[in-house]
Amino acid sequence: MIRVDEKNNVFLLNTENTSYGIAIVDGRYIEHLYYGAKLEETDIRYLLREDEAPFTPSVNKRETGAFLDFAPMEYPEAGMGDYRESALSVRSVKGHRASELCYEGYEITPGKPALEGLPATWGEDSECSTLKIFCRDSLLGMKVTLMYSVFEGVDALTRSVLIENEGEEPFYIEKILSACLDMDDRDFEVISLIGSWARERHIQRMPLGYGRQNIASFKGESSHQEHPFLALVTPETTQSTGEVYAMNFVYSGNFIAQAEKSQFDSVRMSMGIHPEGFTWKLEPGERFTAPEVVMVYSAEGLGKMTRTFHDLYREHLIRSPYLHKKRPILINNWEATYFEFDEKKLLEIAKDAAELGIEMLVMDDGWFGKRNLDDSSLGDWYVNEEKIKGGLHELVENVKKLGLKFGIWIEPEMISPESELYRKHPDWAIQIPGRDITQSRAQYVLDFSRKEVVDGVYEMISDVLKSADISYVKWDMNRQLATLGSYALPADRQGELSHRYVLGVYRMQERLITDFPEILLENCSGGGARFDAGMLYYSPQIWCSDDTDAIERLAIQEGTALVYPVSAMGAHVSVCPNHAVGRVTPFETRGDVALLGTFGYELDITKLSDEEKEQVKVQVEKYHRYNDLIREGDYYRLASVSDNGYYDSWMIVEKDKSRALVFYVQVMARANAKSRFVRLAGLDPEKRYIAGGKTYAGSTLMRAGVRIPSEFGDFKSRLIEIMEA
Ligand code: DGJ
Repeated sequence: MIRVDEKNNVFLLNTENTSYGIAIVDGRYIEHLYYGAKLEETDIRYLLREDEAPFTPSVNKRETGAFLDFAPMEYPEAGMGDYRESALSVRSVKGHRASELCYEGYEITPGKPALEGLPATWGEDSECSTLKIFCRDSLLGMKVTLMYSVFEGVDALTRSVLIENEGEEPFYIEKILSACLDMDDRDFEVISLIGSWARERHIQRMPLGYGRQNIASFKGESSHQEHPFLALVTPETTQSTGEVYAMNFVYSGNFIAQAEKSQFDSVRMSMGIHPEGFTWKLEPGERFTAPEVVMVYSAEGLGKMTRTFHDLYREHLIRSPYLHKKRPILINNWEATYFEFDEKKLLEIAKDAAELGIEMLVMDDGWFGKRNLDDSSLGDWYVNEEKIKGGLHELVENVKKLGLKFGIWIEPEMISPESELYRKHPDWAIQIPGRDITQSRAQYVLDFSRKEVVDGVYEMISDVLKSADISYVKWDMNRQLATLGSYALPADRQGELSHRYVLGVYRMQERLITDFPEILLENCSGGGARFDAGMLYYSPQIWCSDDTDAIERLAIQEGTALVYPVSAMGAHVSVCPNHAVGRVTPFETRGDVALLGTFGYELDITKLSDEEKEQVKVQVEKYHRYNDLIREGDYYRLASVSDNGYYDSWMIVEKDKSRALVFYVQVMARANAKSRFVRLAGLDPEKRYIAGGKTYAGSTLMRAGVRIPSEFGDFKSRLIEIMEA
């Protein structure tokens, strides 16, 4: 609910458990009042310290600068004297970099408007409401609308910004962040998700010092290395205690997420498009929308934050008709064959897979053009009939006869220098005339800022999708952007390329899911470089990482599930020694870890031993037994091997608390060790539950724990089902 106190000039945005307060000062400044546990009254202007120096400019005309550099601002601008990180920097045609936003009014509406061309959360009028605060820089003729949507039942807020040029001359947006949050410091610690290829989204936690700490990407995608999520937590915050302020970007391109501790021990947290290389020219009459940031506050630790994000994304972001459905168990031929396959090999895999209960075959990279290695043919989206003899239609029909659905891999954003497409349209690649194009995986990036490029690629790909009965598409992206230049943009708009590129990706994905609504889309980017909330708007699942080792996956899936629903995490069982790390783990453990996700296989099933094949049957059974619970339930993290060095544990609890599933992985065995008690979470303390054949009170299982025997050998896993008695 959004409350307005006209007398005090205060807006209070309330969810079930949180409040976010904004105040208008001197009739013009939009200041941040409060974010935290729910407040019942709006008479809270004392939080602005207006009676302390530096007083507001109406009182202290001499010291505007001191005020600007101290006051908690909702949307700070560069150039006027706030030397903390700005959210907005605008250059006029005369070359001056400054803006001064002056409050003009507000509007409150039920529901939430869509963001033009951008992914965003959505909701019914009964589920959310939106506050728009209008302000203006009169010199530039710039109207700025700060948009706040409140998801009351979910305890989340979203923010975005709209800029309109209502003046006579163009101006250049050189920086536009989407959200900023000013607070007093509380000895905050910073949590972020960091990593590398095959090591995505590991949790990093460190104290917040003076100065600026940021994580960022200007690689053109959200990236393997740093991730558009940031949380500030009070010291000692655990899964169930402590205060958490979190931001997550609903965007798949360049980003910056930053925390800054300033001279007065105030903290500014901000998030938005990375300003590096970014400029957007706004002609009179044009507008620009900044992508959305989701904000979550939890007074009950990280676990509550996680479940808030999961609920918000499952109920108000992901649109796919597959969201609440059990996804077909797939087998992907990538790790089985890499580029060396033909239709016979695929059918052999399909045959054995069908016998074991697998439901879909996915043909990965290598089926098109002349692609026998990763050095050619991207852009030539027609079937290589030397490999797939008889063509795609026949292959799909034969796979279907075996009882499997069929899925296909594509990488639409790329072009190989060694391709027919490049020979025909060399200008379609992103490049700076006169410079060598930076190569990565022997491929260039297509200029998706150009409509004719997106349309041209789309036509080829949709012809393939129409040519056979295709149930699933894996959309990959295997390199990052560099040598940024577009043949279609004038000199003073080249800084728009990265964002226009992302908008082009969104446009094509929207078209794909509109034209082929029955296709299940999975996003992917060289593993998990584009596992972000923007992509979830288009696909209900995203490939988590090219590292399929069950033990490496523990940290990757823990970090990913910190923010994103487990129903979205692409997770497969693969062979050992594992292709990324060479580790050998029990087949059972590989299956149990992959259950925390979409579940599937990524191996040559024809080469499995009889014993392993029996294991596949057991895993398939487990998937069918548990997937509804895992996909729809509440996720609780119980222990982390990254902290304790020995074991990892998490559980999923059904929303009505009638059933739960505990996962436990003994990562390292210990000599002469006793059994371990793992305290459960999320159960109803009053209910009685059956666990391991005996009945216990929920309170006992949560306070005293379940007993897990110590096992001989590393990498052992165990599932414990808990049912209401
Ligand atoms: C990267 C993906 O993450 C892999 O699963 C596979 O599809 C390869 N690309 C294919 O090039």
